[in-house]
This record gives sequence, C-alpha cells and structure tokens, in this order.
Amino acid sequence: MPDTLTVIDNRTGKEYEIPIMYGTYPRYGAAIPTTDFRQIKVSEDDFGLLGYDPAFTNTASCRSSITHIDGEKGILRYRGYPIEDLAVKSSFLEVAFLIVHGMLPTRAELEEWSHDITHHAIVHENIKKFMDGFRYDAHPMGILISTVAALSTFYPEAKQIRDMAIRNEQIHRLIAKIPTIAAFAYRHSQGFPYTYPDNGLGYCGNFLSMMYKMTEQYSPDPVLEKALDVVFILHVDHEQNCSANAMRSVGSSLPDPYVSVAAAAAGLYGPLHGGANEQVLHMLQEIGHISRVPSHIKKVKQGDIRLMGFGHRVYKNYDPRARILKEMTHRVLGVTGKNTLLDVAVELERIALEDDYFVNRKLYPNVDFYSGLIYQAMGFPLEMFPVLFAIPRTVGWLAQWAEMLDDPDQKIARPRQIYTGDDVCEYVPIEDRLQAGGTNVIRG
Ligand code: CMC
Repeated sequence: MPDTLTVIDNRTGKEYEIPIMYGTYPRYGAAIPTTDFRQIKVSEDDFGLLGYDPAFTNTASCRSSITHIDGEKGILRYRGYPIEDLAVKSSFLEVAFLIVHGMLPTRAELEEWSHDITHHAIVHENIKKFMDGFRYDAHPMGILISTVAALSTFYPEAKQIRDMAIRNEQIHRLIAKIPTIAAFAYRHSQGFPYTYPDNGLGYCGNFLSMMYKMTEQYSPDPVLEKALDVVFILHVDHEQNCSANAMRSVGSSLPDPYVSVAAAAAGLYGPLHGGANEQVLHMLQEIGHISRVPSHIKKVKQGDIRLMGFGHRVYKNYDPRARILKEMTHRVLGVTGKNTLLDVAVELERIALEDDYFVNRKLYPNVDFYSGLIYQAMGFPLEMFPVLFAIPRTVGWLAQWAEMLDDPDQKIARPRQIYTGDDVCEYVPIEDRLQAGGTNVIRG
C-alpha cells in the first residue's frame, strides 16, 4: 500500500498523488505536506490551493524530537522519557539539560551544566536600574517580558545565532537569569531590596532565597524546594503551544534569543495559556467550602461557567502532570499547613470524575488544577503565577528555538491568507468623501 493520498479536483477532474509523511512511528503522527497542494490549480495563473487552518488546530508546523504527548492515553514524554520518571528521579537542571541537549547528562556533564548556569545568575547592575523604572504596582509578568527583551541590548554578540559557542552561552544566560529577573520583579512590586543570587544554593533554592530572603539567614525548606523543582520539571515543555509557536515564529526571522524569549513569554501571559491556574484559585476561593461544590457543579453543567483547571485541547484523559501535582499538593500542605481550598479541590474532582457531563466530554483535571494551590501555599502572590510558569518554560522555548534553527525544512514563518476584503477601489479625494462609513467608496 503506497504511503500517498490521491486527490481528485472535481473542478478540473485532475488527479494528484500527495505523499504522506510520518513521525518516528506512524502512530506518532502522519501528515501531508500542504505545499504539494499548490500544484492543484484550475488554470495556469491560478495561485494553487492553500490549506486553511486558523489556530493551527490540524497543522504540524514542524518536525520535533523534544516532547511527545498522547492526549488520548494521558502520556507526556520529554525526549522519550516518561514525565513520571523524570519528576521522581531527576532534578530540574538535569531535565533542562535533557531538553536542550537531547540526552540525559553524565555526572560530569551535569556538574559543568549546573556550574555554567549558576555562574550566569547575576544580572548587570543596569538591569536593576532598568527594573527600578517600573511603577510600584507593575505586573511582574510585564516586568519579566520587558527585562528579558532588554537583555538583548546587553549581549549584542547574541545575534550570532549560528555560532554554537555564542548560542550556548545565551542559553546558559537565559536559563540562569530568568529566576533572578522573576524574583527581582516580585521584590520591586513589594518595595523590597533585591536579593542577589546565592551560588551555594540549587536552582530552586536560590530562586526561593531571592524571593523571600530578608535580613536574616535564609535556608529554603527542603520539601518546598523539592516541590518547586518538580513543578518546574512538569512545566519545561509542552510541544507546539501558543508560546512555543511564538518562540519559533519570532525566532525564524533570526533575531537574538532574548527578544524571542520575550515574545514567547508574552504569548504565555494571556489567560488562555499561562493564566489558568490563577483562575482555578479564584474559583476555589469563590466556592469556599465543600458544601457549595454541588451547586457549583450544577452551574457548570448548565453551561453558565467552566470548571477551571478541567479539560484540555490535547489531553482527553487525566493530564499526567496533574496526577503528580495532586500528590505534591498534599506534601507541600503538610509543611505549610492545611488549606481548606484543597478539600474543595479534591471534592470538585471527585464529583466531576463521576459525573456523566464530565465523563462524556472527557474532561479531566489539567496541570493548572493543583499548581495554583502549591504556589499559594509557598507564599507566591497570584500575579507571580504566570512568571513561575515562564521560568522553567524558558528551557523548552530555547530547545524549540535551537531545533528550529537547525532544521533545514524551516524558513522565516510566513503564513498565507484567504483575502476577503474589497477588490480594487477607486481612490476618492478627501474633499469628496461626504459621509463616514465608506459610502463614497466605489467598489471594483
Ligand atoms: N468546564 C466545563 N465544560 C467544559 C470545560 C470545562 N473546563 N472544558 C470543556 N468543556 C465542555 C465544553 O463546554 C464543550 O461542551 P459541549 O460539547 O457541550 O459544547 C466540550 O467540553 C468541549 O469543549 P471545547 O471548548 O471544545 O474544548 P477545547 O479543547 O476547545 O478547550 C480548554 C480546551 C482547556 C480551553 C477548555 O477545556 C477550558 O476552557 N478549560 C478550562 C480552562 C483551563 O483549565 N485551562 C487550562 C488548560 S491547560 C494549560 C496548558 O496545558 O498549557
């Protein structure tokens, strides 16, 4: 059986054979190169057929070997490793190496990688001054996006993206400096002095220290440090989502990675992407007590509201990240103290998983259902939630960017369109335009 698709154009009666391409295995994805449709024309001057797919819901924009998701089965793997194994057996920096370099590091490689990242955590003093310019109530995500973009001006050599040594150094810098900028953004909003990175601490311990250290000694709680490490591992990459697509798209015009990461972070900022865990927390606070869970579920089933933290475009099964986070929430609250909102969350999940409305629509908890509770228990304000997402996701963005740069199939991203506007208009001089609303426009 040939791996092709036969297409008959009923306008002309012509027949075309289009090749079918596969991922590692056919079950990992089969696609047709839509550029092959351009040969399908009704006349010689016809442009040829385009694919129409707003929001890329059925378009593969690249071939990638970074992350594999099987939404039906609830599977997530980084470079082939199940997320469950990585969350339990690896550290965030080890997973970051895996995602960026494609293989788990040896002990020596991990030591060198950790050293390189740790020693780039400090930011130029002028970055501090730049951040001081923001209003006291500036959203930390706005500060993060702008400051990462500003890094571009500090490292002009970063434009040499084809020089591997320079490229790798920017990757180290970005992974290293993102937590520093994130913590500084928080401290700016609180009016606290900035806390410099502490090279003696691990990646997450150092971030907690930069967030919360005041005048006294600060040692991060090991359970909370580990929990944050796991949360970061779960957020490293999620294949071609809105922010990864922004990273690839902006990166395809070949600017330095700082401005591309800023663009990706901007994509993450929106409530439909990185902002959902905040909405979950609002919802849990609004419900307030398990006694009010049934009436909330009723409103969801009537279609008045959505159950935040439930449902996913790709997962039609339990999001494997949510399963790990649920267990982690109990552990974190064991340290920080009980939170009645966890009882509300567990009861919501219990009822929803038994209810036909949710079962029939394959609506399961997603990663955001429990992550907000963990962040809140650790003392992060709601505005920091998307920032906490951006820190580990920077690793994924950089891996997606590097893969795009090295992929010979890739070019500057430039989608086509189906034009629906006016045909040729006859220009009307301003003195002859008597009415607003274009009534004087003469259509072609
Ligand atoms: N609560 C109640 N009903 C829902 C929900 C929900 N959370 N999600 C989907 N549905 C229903 C929806 O009303 C529709 O029902 P019907 O067929 O009767 O009209 C059906 O399920 C299919 O919904 P859809 O909107 O076509 O599904 P989608 O794939 O376009 O949406 C989603 C995915 C995540 C936007 C949606 O499930 C949602 O709004 N969830 C709540 C917000 C949320 O938790 N977002 C975080 C997503 S995970 C973030 C990440 O991985 O980066």
